[in-house]
Amino acid sequence: MTENEAKSLLSQYGQEHILSYFDTLTNEQQQELLSQISDTDFSVLNHLKKPKKTSNTGKISPIRALQLPEINKNKNQYRDTGLLAIRSGKVAAVLLAGGMGTRLGSDNPKGMYDIGITKPMYIFERLICNLMDIVRESGEFIHLFVMTSDKNHAATTNFFNEQDYFGYEKDYIHFFKQDMAPAADYAGKVFMEEPYRLATSPNGNGGWFSSMKNAGLLDIVHCEGIEWLNVFAVDNVLQRIADPCFVGATITENCSVGAKVVRKNHPDEKVGVMCLKDNHPSIVEYYELTPELRDTKDEHGEPAYNFGVILNYLFRVADLETICQRQLPLHIVEKKIPHIDEAGNHIKPEEPNGYKFETLILDLIEMMDTCLPFEVEREKEFAPIKNKTGVDSVESARELLQKNRVTL
Ligand code: UTP
Repeated sequence: MTENEAKSLLSQYGQEHILSYFDTLTNEQQQELLSQISDTDFSVLNHLKKPKKTSNTGKISPIRALQLPEINKNKNQYRDTGLLAIRSGKVAAVLLAGGMGTRLGSDNPKGMYDIGITKPMYIFERLICNLMDIVRESGEFIHLFVMTSDKNHAATTNFFNEQDYFGYEKDYIHFFKQDMAPAADYAGKVFMEEPYRLATSPNGNGGWFSSMKNAGLLDIVHCEGIEWLNVFAVDNVLQRIADPCFVGATITENCSVGAKVVRKNHPDEKVGVMCLKDNHPSIVEYYELTPELRDTKDEHGEPAYNFGVILNYLFRVADLETICQRQLPLHIVEKKIPHIDEAGNHIKPEEPNGYKFETLILDLIEMMDTCLPFEVEREKEFAPIKNKTGVDSVESARELLQKNRVTL
């Protein structure tokens, strides 16, 4: 892209300020900026002009969850079905590790965080250990796709390499980058991170399948005959990945997607709960849960919206391929965005100062026809690390890991 082409593109979006330092840059920096401009999707900024869509437009009703007593009753059958699929190479895992982990406050990728006490124990290492449980049980390595972003790709891949893939079979780990979106101030002007670099951030966890596709990784999926993708977040160090029982139940129930869920701790717990929206599987976020929905009971007198998602989903590949051409809704989120001011000073805001643009995995669930909420025991499978201390923190996760007899 030439300077003139950049000028003309930016003027379409009212972003001419991006080139205001251009003449002071070195040749290399000018090229870096031009190439970033050509790779950036500025059309997301148009969403700031449109009036905000009210979120809950559909009719919400309860969804049936497969609960622990029923799971335990059919455990052997589910497990055998799941193991058969795993041993036939039909199941792979996708680790979502493209997020910024801002709440944890580390400059490194979240997975590099050391949660060990007597020895190093990195989050990535813990997740690979969890996956190894199933490799041992099934006798087969499982393909693992790892989503990174421009911001953490090099650090993540170098770390896996340095750590010798934590003993996992290297050829079964495949990295891919998600797309980036510009971050803008409240007036819709894109922030600059440096005079030669726009402030951009990963575009949310909803686009993982299209990013995998764009990276050419569906070739592996097709060649290997992978039919199910178990997508999971980087921060739950207790989760079971490619859990045969979960896989078997989702296959047996013939659902497009399975979702691991935990029973809510209390009615006001801040967790998104599974429901149906206009008869499609969906998730009501805790801030969208009206008192009326919160207090609705099922036929057994139990809360009807009682199962919170933990970001561990099993998607059927064929269904993902059917819907992947459809546009996911774009969410505009207020965040603290580091940037430079007009004089070139670096500013690290304490309060939100602008918008980021994200797609969310929950919107992908809504595009599916059927979903199986599959209950798991919170104490055994849910130890998310979002913060340094307090709720969902390194401390609380360590405690839960120790309760599950993991030596840290
Ligand atoms: P979170 O919503 O917790 O976001 O991500 P985050 O970026 O990790 O952390 P904060 O909010 O900045 O503190 C849930 C999961 O989705 C992944 C994260 O890596 C995590 O596994 N994710 C999130 C992506 O892969 N890409 C994104 O753009 C956002």
